[in-house]
Amino acid sequence: MDICVVGAGYVGLVTSACLAYLGNHVIAVESNPERLNSLKSGAVPFFEPGLQEFVQQTSESGFLTFSDNLPEAVKKAQIIFIAVGTPSLPNGESDLSQVMVVARAIGAALDDSKRRIVVNKSTVPVGSGNWVEMLVSQGVQNAQKAQLVPARSGRSEGPSFTVVSNPEFLREGSAIADSFYPDRIVVGSIDEQATSVMQNLYKPILSQTFDAPSFAMRPHGLNSVPFIVTDLASAELIKYSANAFLAMKISFANEISGLCEKVGADVKQVAQGIGLDYRIGKAFLNAGVGWGGSCFGKDVSALMQVAKEYSYPTSLLEATVAVNERQRLVVIKKLQEELKILKGRTVGLMGLSFKPNTDDLRDAPALTIAYQLLKMGASVKAFDPVSNDICKTLHSHLDLIYADSVEDLACDCDALVLVTEWDEFKHADWKKIAKLMRWPLVIDGRNALDEEQVRASGITYRGVGC
Ligand SMILES: NC(=O)c1ccc[n+]([C@@H]2O[C@H](COP(=O)([O-])OP(=O)(O)OC[C@H]3O[C@@H](n4cnc5c(N)ncnc54)[C@H](O)[C@@H]3O)[C@@H](O)[C@H]2O)c1
Repeated sequence: MDICVVGAGYVGLVTSACLAYLGNHVIAVESNPERLNSLKSGAVPFFEPGLQEFVQQTSESGFLTFSDNLPEAVKKAQIIFIAVGTPSLPNGESDLSQVMVVARAIGAALDDSKRRIVVNKSTVPVGSGNWVEMLVSQGVQNAQKAQLVPARSGRSEGPSFTVVSNPEFLREGSAIADSFYPDRIVVGSIDEQATSVMQNLYKPILSQTFDAPSFAMRPHGLNSVPFIVTDLASAELIKYSANAFLAMKISFANEISGLCEKVGADVKQVAQGIGLDYRIGKAFLNAGVGWGGSCFGKDVSALMQVAKEYSYPTSLLEATVAVNERQRLVVIKKLQEELKILKGRTVGLMGLSFKPNTDDLRDAPALTIAYQLLKMGASVKAFDPVSNDICKTLHSHLDLIYADSVEDLACDCDALVLVTEWDEFKHADWKKIAKLMRWPLVIDGRNALDEEQVRASGITYRGVGC
């Protein structure tokens, strides 16, 4: 099929490459000139494991091309994906300005040659499907006015299109595998023809009949993926509810972790004990410095804002956010307990990105922790295997001292705080690190280190919730 994907960020680029790999002709439209030039020259402008080689492979095969010419790409396509950003506004609502621009531009570019499906892949609040349909229609009308098409008597037919919702569930760090082997594919639409085209597009994934790429092997035993068809509003709500639930699960584990510290229990054992109950499940029960990233915070806020429009209370969501805000600073409390005075101390942050295997710093707990430590008069060093440079550029106002390695980070530190559980940190040489530190203290903000090994190196170890 001929596909246009508007927005070549984490979601748009991965979606484009996967659909191209499955044999579709994909034009990825990107408006940021730096990003576009980088992609055209074969370089992926952000870190995602395997994506560089994958994009190169699909581009070389001729199935994936990049462009900034949206009208041309739209005219060629049967399916047009909107995959632009929907960040939070200061009041918590979604900023839908990128979606608005794109939807109108799509409308202005539509012609009568075929019926198009406009797919909302960006995470957008409930009701956005109808809103995008209105914007696309406005784009059509604006173009007609600009071309001075004489007004016809009666209702003009105009180009034929329908809007469907197809929320994205991929996770940064495992985006390619998540796209090829999702838990489900959700399509929101009451248009049977459109849902059937979408089902056809995703057929190789639904039936797992494609050759698995060497860098994203098929999970053992996976031979089908559920295809869920819903109405538009339900599909939009599925995405927000899924993220809100996951965020809530982490906040729950964190709330229990605080109680564990009070009563002398170990949250890792508690999480194992409850996670083995199949109704609860083990995932997302890890206590630590809490969730972050480009999705959880903004999606939970957007969900609360939607509820507010209907004067509907969201006590659980409010608590989820409040626990997370508190949890980010739990490592600072532990530093105070151990070091007493933080002014004049040097603290090394192990990791900056919001989770391992990504360079994404959006709403990263490390930034909150760094800001707070600096405010309290500490000197803050940081080392992240991939996001040092991005942090330097995007957060130049933070007076951080960047290290080139774990050892460089440990030098003259009064404490190290694990914020992002990169493998490199899990396998660090703690004996060597202990010798380099001014004061041998490690706060494990993710409960991810080998406590015995750290302690055996003569380092004081403090985890979360134990
Ligand atoms: N990142 C994730 O893990 C993830 C997962 C699931 C869903 N989502 C959702 O998917 C959407 C995209 O997220 P992302 O992380 O890929 O965002 P992103 O910011 O990484 O990428 C968006 C891209 O769209 C481009 N863009 C903006 N306006 C454009 C226009 N008019 N024409 C062409 N390109 C344009 C931007 O330059 C950018 O490259 C968001 O709604 C997000 O909530 C993200």
